[in-house]
Parts: sequence; structure tokens; C-alpha cells
Amino acid sequence: MASTHGAHQVLVASNRGPVSYEVQEDGSLAAKRGGGGLVSGLSAIGPDAGALWVCSALSDGDREAVRQGVGEEGVRMLAVPADVHADAYNGIANSVLWFVHHMLYQTPLEPVFDAEFRRQWASYETYNRAFAEALAEEAAEGAAVLVQDYHLTLVPGMLRELRPDLRIGHFSHTPWAPADYFRMLPDDIAEQVLRGMLGADRLGFLTRRWADAFTACCTELVGGPGNTEVGVHGLGADADFLRRRSHEADVDERMAALREEIGAGRKTIVRVDRTELSKNIVRGLLAYRQLLDDHPEWRERVVHVAFAYPSRQDLAVYRDYTAEVQRLAEEINSRYGTPGWTPVVLHVKDDFARSLAAYRLADVALVNPIRDGMNLVAKEVPVVSDDGCVLVLSREAGAHAELGEDAITVNPYDVIGTAEALHTALTLPAEERAEHSKRLAAAATALPPAQWFLDQLNALVDQPS
Ligand code: G6P
Repeated sequence: MASTHGAHQVLVASNRGPVSYEVQEDGSLAAKRGGGGLVSGLSAIGPDAGALWVCSALSDGDREAVRQGVGEEGVRMLAVPADVHADAYNGIANSVLWFVHHMLYQTPLEPVFDAEFRRQWASYETYNRAFAEALAEEAAEGAAVLVQDYHLTLVPGMLRELRPDLRIGHFSHTPWAPADYFRMLPDDIAEQVLRGMLGADRLGFLTRRWADAFTACCTELVGGPGNTEVGVHGLGADADFLRRRSHEADVDERMAALREEIGAGRKTIVRVDRTELSKNIVRGLLAYRQLLDDHPEWRERVVHVAFAYPSRQDLAVYRDYTAEVQRLAEEINSRYGTPGWTPVVLHVKDDFARSLAAYRLADVALVNPIRDGMNLVAKEVPVVSDDGCVLVLSREAGAHAELGEDAITVNPYDVIGTAEALHTALTLPAEERAEHSKRLAAAATALPPAQWFLDQLNALVDQPS
């Protein structure tokens, strides 16, 4: 039997992989490597560990790479048909599961679970099955498989049936919805998601709060989590990488350019987000406008540096949200701006070096999500900022569990409260600011990506079966 199994001892599965391909003008393929916690985490076990990363082809370039047999060692890309992937990724993962876990529905009119939803759900099953089958094929006898996130909730259950010998883990990078909200899903679908996840030996969450919410859903809907272990691993910032990278020449160049845009002697309120609907950028701008109204002494003396990088632009609601962010920033600039002062400096084109430059310059970091699995920006700014920064942090961000004591906490819906928090942050005495920032940086780096990954792997492998 064992001879029919694959050769890999450790496998990671996620929708987005560590590499993507683009078709160049001359028809050749250009590979681009991505970053993030999982990429640096996986590097902790080294290239000789026999690890395989199974991911989905996302773009036409990716599909072309699979067709031509182009790939990287240690990565297997699945060419799920584009329409199936679109239903699973845009239709179910990003428009339903993301909305449920971040509690984003405007419930008088949505969600509507109709025939179209059922059709898309069938694609989500197909897409999860493609992962389960590929993993079953590639995994060595008794191998450890680490499945990632809401895109792949059905994989653990499917894989367990195909390969009962494997150690299966699943990690959620998002919040988990409270049971009452989760039960918005049709009963059979809610149950299928939970049972799919419970096919794992071990489930990981970013905070105790999300782990408890998951357990509560299990208790209400399927009689409890059974034999599946539920653990908490709070991913931290990668201090070594950030400190080194943020002092490279391109970051210095971006700092000079930003200083030019900001103007001499002004304080900065910095935010950096992918424009996900849960990031609450619009209320952040409203709070900044409120600050300029309630405390006119800040006019000309502060600049809100807001980087809102577009994400998931296939979805109209994401595009509309980005447009609203831009509209509001322009409105604030035309209402309050003066010839020498632009109140909001907004950039929407993704530029990592410029993000690090803004981190270094930040006097105040604004991180006010409606709900967030962790939020790594909250952890990264204190590590990188040159003079220490004050963190204004939503109590609904996972990071709040670890950083709340040294941050100024806000209710993300309370615009007036957020404006007041910004004022408090801007006026905090320098020694206090430095003290808090130091403690924030220490808490933020307590569990670097490599250790975060190893802890999960060890817990999965050591767990008694
Ligand atoms: C956020 C979430 C992750 C998720 C990722 C997917 O960063 O925190 O849980 O996996 O988005 O992003 P994508 O661009 O692939 O839709």
C-alpha cells in the first residue's frame, strides 16, 4: 500500500500559493514570489524537509504555467477550471464565508441563499475535492498536512476519508463568527463546514476568542468538537526581516518622497491596509475629519497618510468600497486643505517599500478594523517606527488580545470616539509614547512566523492519535 503514496512528509495547502506567473508580451512566463507569514514560516523547516505546498492556479498566467509544466520545486499548483475557481473563491469564500466571519452583511437585504448560491457551493465542493485528492496523492504514509483558511474548510474531512493515516491540521487566519451569526448559513451548509473542519486532528486559530467561537458553533450545531483538538497560535511580526528590510535604500528614497508630501514639522497618522471591507477605512477617514472639526488646532499640523491597496477587485462591492475611500479623501482635502497642506495623503498602488517608509515615519498608527483575524500592521508599525508610535487599535482586531494594554482602544463603529482617541494619541507625552511603543514591539514579536509554524507542526505531530 505505502508504495502508492507520495513522498512528502509535510504538506501545506492554501488557495494562494508562494509563487504566481504572468504571461509576458513575448509569450514567456515570469514568476513572482510572494511573502507573508506562511512563506517565512515554512522556510523554518528548511529545503530538505521534503515539504510540498499545494495551491491553486489563480491567474491565466498560473494556468498557462501548469499547462506548460512550468513550476517550482516544492510547489504544486492545481489548475482548477477558471469558472469553478471563480465560484469557489469570489462567490463562496469571499462573498459568503468572509462576510459571515467578519459579520459584514447588511441583513435587511442579504444574505440570500438561493439556487445561485447552491450552484456556487457545488463549485466550492469541487474545488475543495481537488485539493483533497492532490494532497492524498502527494503525502507520504503518516505525513503531516497543514490546510489553510476558509477557502478550504471541507478539505480535512475529505482528506480524512481518502487517507486515514495522515495527521491533518487546519488553520484559520480570519475571525470565527459567533454562533448566532454563523447560523445564518443554511443548516446543512453550516454543518458541512463544521464537519469538514472537524475532519482534522487539530484546528488552529489566531486568538482564544475565535477558537471559543468555533467551539461554541460546534456545541450548538454538531454536539461539540469531538476528538479534534483546538489550539491558539498568535502569529507575530518578523522583527529581523522588518528591521533589515526597512533600512534598505529604496525605503529611504520613499521616506524622502513622503516627507515632501507631508511637509516639514507635521505629525503623521498612518494606516496601511489591503482594501478589504472589514478594514473600516471609510470610518477611519470620517474620524480624521471629526478630529479636524473638534480640534481645529490640528489643522495644518497633522497629515493622515492612508495606504489602501486594492484587493479582490473582481467583486463590485470591493471596487465600490475603494472608490468611496478615494471620494472621501478628496472631499476632506478640498474642504480643509490649504495651498501648503494636504490633510490626507492617499495612495492605492501597492508598494511595500513605501509602506515600510510610512511605518518608520508614523507618530500614530490607526488600525480600526470592524473585525480582523489578527492584523499584522498593528504589530509591524511599532517594530519599525523610528521614534516609537502610538497605536490606536480596534478592540475587534485579534491583535488587541496581545497589544491592547499598550494601545489606545477604540470601538470601530464609534467615529467620535475614534477622533478623540486620535487626539489623545497625538498629544501623548514623548516618554509615554516611547515606553508603550517598546512594549508593543516586544509583544508583537513574541511569536515570529518560523516559530508559529513549527509550534503548529509539532503540536500536530506529537498529538496522540
Ligand atoms: C487576508 C486574510 C487571510 C486570507 C487572505 C486571502 O489576508 O487575513 O485569512 O487568506 O486575506 O487574501 P486573497 O488576496 O488571497 O483573497
